Amino acid sequence: MEIIEILREASKRIYENVKDLPGTDKAAGDFGLGAGGDISRNIDIIAEKTVLDYLKEINFKCVVLGEECGRVELSEKPKGFVIMDAIDGSANAVRGVPFFCSSLAFATENKLSSISDGVITNLSNGEMYWASKNQGAFYNNKEIKVHKKDPIYKIVGINTSGASIELINKLQPIFEKYDHTRHFGANALEMAMFARGLMDIFIDLRNKIRIQDIAAGYIIVKEAGGLLLDSNLHQLDADLGYETRVSFIAAANQEILDEVVSQIEK
Ligand code: IPD
Ligand code: CA
Repeated sequence: MEIIEILREASKRIYENVKDLPGTDKAAGDFGLGAGGDISRNIDIIAEKTVLDYLKEINFKCVVLGEECGRVELSEKPKGFVIMDAIDGSANAVRGVPFFCSSLAFATENKLSSISDGVITNLSNGEMYWASKNQGAFYNNKEIKVHKKDPIYKIVGINTSGASIELINKLQPIFEKYDHTRHFGANALEMAMFARGLMDIFIDLRNKIRIQDIAAGYIIVKEAGGLLLDSNLHQLDADLGYETRVSFIAAANQEILDEVVSQIEK
């Protein structure tokens, strides 16, 4: 079975197992701090268990790097890493805001740049985004590309959750210039929607986002033809460590990148 098919099946099973939970008391149950440093909710635990059970069932030889469960070695001779944020946008899921997803990626080495496959499923409706290296990016069964034409409305995604006053001040000219800035609360799904051409740029300069939140988005954005850069405008890369936090900009083309970056206060 191809790795992408394994990730797609695992993602589908998460959707089946959690689709009736969002907004319920059952979703919210507190399981203490997870490996990623946030409180693990019952919905997170159910979703992660679904993936771990499936990978064990098919005897997939890998090391899982889960946001809640941490590093789980499923084999002594692993083929690589499954990077799992079983529920991205947990706060939305617990409150019942219909914007959260699962993010599963496969990497051969301990590097973001070695990710070969990624799947993001919108868990409020089952829609799936996926990509494999050099094979293109897909939304359900349709190939997707970032938005290349001049858009009717420029949509600028900016993650501002928990941003410092310094960062808000730096970004202020962007809020002023663009009438349509957006932040929905699940970075992976926002990256997938960007890859599908629904946003022109997506910025997260908080230096807070974990590798689990962006691993699948990394390959989906790249395969959809997007630029993916760090805050110094170099190609985004990082190790897959639990301490690692990144900032990034995903842009549909050089023009919008230059335009938006020129607004950021130095
Ligand atoms: C969160 C989401 C959110 C971002 C947070 C992440 P989680 O992931 O991606 O958009 O602002 O920084 O922690 O915790 O729901 O998996
Ligand atoms: Ca999560």
